[in-house]
Amino acid sequence: MKVRQARFVESSPSHRDGWSLPEIALTGRSNVGKSSLINALLGRKNLAKTSSTPGKTQLINRFCIDESWHLIDLPGYGWARVSQRRRVAWRSMVQRYLSQSKQLILVLLLIDSRRTPQALDLEFAGWLQRHTVPFQLVFTKGDKISTNVLNRHIHLFADALQGVPGHSPLGECVATSSKTRLGLETLGKTIGAKLAAFLDSQ
Ligand code: GTP
Ligand code: MG
Repeated sequence: MKVRQARFVESSPSHRDGWSLPEIALTGRSNVGKSSLINALLGRKNLAKTSSTPGKTQLINRFCIDESWHLIDLPGYGWARVSQRRRVAWRSMVQRYLSQSKQLILVLLLIDSRRTPQALDLEFAGWLQRHTVPFQLVFTKGDKISTNVLNRHIHLFADALQGVPGHSPLGECVATSSKTRLGLETLGKTIGAKLAAFLDSQ
């Protein structure tokens, strides 16, 4: 995936229609590495704001790539140190966007590869499936663990997904690192193919 130009468009607390370009969104737990992955994919240092403290991204952030598609950075779910009210508000902001955007062609659901399967992630995957939102799993921070453990966690996640109502088989998934660029070429190709297929269908 070649990126010539990437620019910030807007931060918004709610989804609004009226955009015409195809969108690809990143979702996942707070601190899983969504904003970092956006910067790494686009080859930009600080376009999406990152932080070692969870809860950095709090709005729907829209970036325009080569004036031909949008990449969407979303607030994370599951951050324990924020009030239940705010957690529910963030989650409904994200879910409203994911279920209502007419331009959304792919969601990347980011999973921390250092962890064994977590109920919240499985639940979120189930929600995407029930709402027929096309998604792909992206395992993050792959530089922090051995390949063996990484692969074991991916398999455990695939097994756990079997228990999610309406599940489909794991399908494509990719292990990544925003630090070492592990998996980024593969992920870039997936995004490129998805965009090309969308344009062909128009
Ligand atoms: P929220 O906006 O709070 O939901 O978090 P986020 O999912 O956008 O995470 P963010 O990109 O801000 O990264 C969180 C922390 O993880 C930062 O300290 C990053 O430097 C670190 N991080 C992200 N990706 C990687 C990675 O691939 N490898 C390593 N080692 N650290 C990473
Ligand atoms: Mg973020």
